[in-house]
Amino acid sequence: TFVVGENCIKCKYTDCVEVCPVDCFHEGPNFLVIDPEECIDCTLCEPECPAEAIFPEDDLPEGQEAFLELNEELARQWPVITQQKDPPPDADDWLGKEGKLKLLER
Ligand code: SF4
Ligand code: F3S
Repeated sequence: TFVVGENCIKCKYTDCVEVCPVDCFHEGPNFLVIDPEECIDCTLCEPECPAEAIFPEDDLPEGQEAFLELNEELARQWPVITQQKDPPPDADDWLGKEGKLKLLER
């Protein structure tokens, strides 16, 4: 499966959702996740993300290993999103910032 990592938090550009052939993105208040049970590893979403927040599960950045389970857990709670929407107004200010996990809203 592919996994959405920390870079998405508070950026949430949503470019990724339109290309997914199996609609496996789920949306929370300031983060998106991939449902690992639906993802078919097509790789299409990875290059679409302006924040470079999407990774194959085997290639998560060091320290972000927990995001696989987090995607799985939150995908069960959050609704599916299939259409791109405007990012938060301050999305660019948070681009590439570290330590955003504590800012994740559920
Ligand atoms: Fe969807 Fe393909 Fe990305 Fe998986 S890899 S989340 S199937 S676009
Ligand atoms: Fe997040 Fe990137 Fe999609 S910032 S919403 S994973 S385009």
